[in-house]
Amino acid sequence: MSKNVEDFDGWLRSAFVEMNTELENQYFAQDERENVDGLGDTIKHQIRDEGHEYVVKLLAEGNTDEGFDHAFDLLGGLGLYMASLRRHELTNPANEMKSPFPEASALGMQIAASVGMVPRFSTAHLATRNAALDGRQKSFTSLKDEYLFLDYNTRGIFAFMRASDALTRILPMGVSNPVTETLLGDAANALKDVIKYSDCLFDELDTDRFFYSVRPYYKPYRVGRHEYRGANAGDFSGINEIDLLLGLCQANDPYYSQLLVDKMLFMPPTDQASLRDCMRRRSLLSQFLDVAPSSAKEPWFIKNATAFIEVCRLHGATAAQHHDRLVTRFIEKPSKALSKEKLSQVTASGPPLEVLLRSLEVLRDMRLATSRKDIRTSFNDLEKLKSYLNA
Ligand code: HEM
Repeated sequence: MSKNVEDFDGWLRSAFVEMNTELENQYFAQDERENVDGLGDTIKHQIRDEGHEYVVKLLAEGNTDEGFDHAFDLLGGLGLYMASLRRHELTNPANEMKSPFPEASALGMQIAASVGMVPRFSTAHLATRNAALDGRQKSFTSLKDEYLFLDYNTRGIFAFMRASDALTRILPMGVSNPVTETLLGDAANALKDVIKYSDCLFDELDTDRFFYSVRPYYKPYRVGRHEYRGANAGDFSGINEIDLLLGLCQANDPYYSQLLVDKMLFMPPTDQASLRDCMRRRSLLSQFLDVAPSSAKEPWFIKNATAFIEVCRLHGATAAQHHDRLVTRFIEKPSKALSKEKLSQVTASGPPLEVLLRSLEVLRDMRLATSRKDIRTSFNDLEKLKSYLNA
């Protein structure tokens, strides 16, 4: 790691966190917690100016080509800095045609193009690739609720990854293999862990602290001329690999393939590669249906197809939990308590709330294989498989 990178990283892990935390405490102490105007201007400018000094040196240093991990980390660090400028309204993509931070943008675009990702911070920077030093991971603030959010998200993401890993291992083994039941059991256990961690988050996270002091760091911002949407815990390939391998979502579905294309560059390159590979595979649901007419009475079919249906049920349950519990409690309810004008200051993702909620609902129903006329779900295929078992 070059001296400039090390200095920037040290600042991000210390003064940057302290300044953001102080600002959050000032905002949160107001009656109108969503307001950031006219508060802590000295601190806001200090974040901007101190960060700028590091950025200028890093840009002058150029790409030191110290390998993927360092470049990826620096992109994340730079992204945290730019997301903080956005959070404190030192930039707002709605009022600008390009980022007012040309040096940070140039550095971000240079690194992003070289690693093959979007030029902003993404979930992996704060979750699965967030290196801790002395027991402390990177974060925007030192607020307890930010750590809760980051750590439970990360545990949930790793559990989804374990499920997708187990399902991927079935592909070369085949749906009739005796060990397939074990792999399906592993996937089921991993999905139960997702549910467990999300339950913990639901019980422990403070709604107001999350809504007013954590989520605003996940707003879209501009890098150069383009605006990039906020990061979200879904920006890893495992969740989509599960969707596709189970056969609950299809890569040729216009809605779902749009989602895959849009998220591709928000994921680390290794995730991009495994998702691409998975998009070319035949789903396990299709494979079970292929052999069902001839094998439905075989003991292996009964065991493996029953285990498969249980994994589908659990995957649907994680989606229902995400939408009906987490999104409802931590986003929908607090958003509804705000006027439209105030809401625009706190929402994190690009689309209006109703649009965002509708799109998450579509995903939930695809994963639950709900019977819906307006979207394609696997309801009929899954029912057909169940009917072979019940015959
Ligand atoms: C996406 C909210 C925790 C997995 C999203 C989105 C929202 C959201 C609003 C849509 C994109 C956006 O605007 O950012 C929340 C809230 C959480 C939470 C309020 C808790 C306080 C989690 C956890 C996981 C998770 C623990 C599991 C690892 C996902 C996934 C997506 C997503 C996979 C992408 C869309 C999808 O494929 O379903 N989340 N989330 N989220 N979140 Fe969460």
